[in-house]
Amino acid sequence: MSDIQSKNNEHFNKTATDYDNIPQVKEMTQRAAEVVIREYIASTNEDYVKGASVIDFGCGTGLCAFNVAPKVGRLLGVDASEGMLNYLNHKLTTNAENASIRDKVKTVQHLVTFDDPLPEPERSQYLAGADGGVDMVYSSFVMHHIEDVQGITNALAQKLLKKDGWLIVLDFEGLHNHHHGDGKAHDHGHGHGHGHQHAEGEKHEHHDQHEHHGHHEHHGSENKVEEMHGHYVDADGKPLEFVAHKAGFTPEGFMEIFKKAGLVDVEAKHSFGMDREWSGKNIWTDVLVVKGRRP
Ligand SMILES: C[S@@+](CC[C@H](N)C(=O)[O-])C[C@H]1O[C@@H](n2cnc3c(N)ncnc32)[C@H](O)[C@@H]1O
Repeated sequence: MSDIQSKNNEHFNKTATDYDNIPQVKEMTQRAAEVVIREYIASTNEDYVKGASVIDFGCGTGLCAFNVAPKVGRLLGVDASEGMLNYLNHKLTTNAENASIRDKVKTVQHLVTFDDPLPEPERSQYLAGADGGVDMVYSSFVMHHIEDVQGITNALAQKLLKKDGWLIVLDFEGLHNHHHGDGKAHDHGHGHGHGHQHAEGEKHEHHDQHEHHGHHEHHGSENKVEEMHGHYVDADGKPLEFVAHKAGFTPEGFMEIFKKAGLVDVEAKHSFGMDREWSGKNIWTDVLVVKGRRP
């Protein structure tokens, strides 16, 4: 396990039962689940989605999974943290409101890697056979914790998905690159090793899809980086080590990663934005969605 992954695991095991009380996390994950289902239906159709086998990569305490499960055929939640899964399973088995999804949701504790995407017996149950793999893999707010985003995307795309299966990822959108002002191309340094450049005046799909939240739109990229880094600190102001990508991602950067993983029909865009309380401050959070199909 890499250093960041083990810090990650230590953190999520320690804070599992507090996770659902993070301000606005329920609203954010519910909205993420709606986006996952909407995007999946848009790429397939409603009947297909109803019968689909799905993996939630990094399902945590199930906040997103419990909202996705009613809409699909069956769902396997995979997570490296035993603490998070214990809490998910406690809620699944004891909350009356989860009775209707009890039979379709299964979980497995596992640190997903390219060489070891799923343990037995789930590997045989979900991945065996010529047409092995699930219909759709999604993940919400996991990628910013993972150092090697390309490696993990390759694993999800090439090891867990069946042919024509869809990968849908939601995570924080850090830099918008809306207003450069100096006419030069910029590298935005969004932190996942796939720096990309845009010429001034280039049109961005997500620009037109922003909700009218009326703030944060006009920040320069440097301010935005500082802002995001500034939020991921502990009570003593030290940077949180378990967050690998403190500046979030860009739709364009994630599209490159998906294409490099061999996915086709790749699309990425801003999906929603909302106010959140973080470290005692109110911050605006933008969330992007990226999807692609295994050919
Ligand atoms: C911020 S939580 C998100 C949980 C959930 N998806 C949600 O939206 O509430 C990130 C989760 O990803 C899990 N995780 C991180 N890297 C992982 C890996 N390589 N394999 C499996 N789980 C991983 C962590 O254990 C943690 O539960």
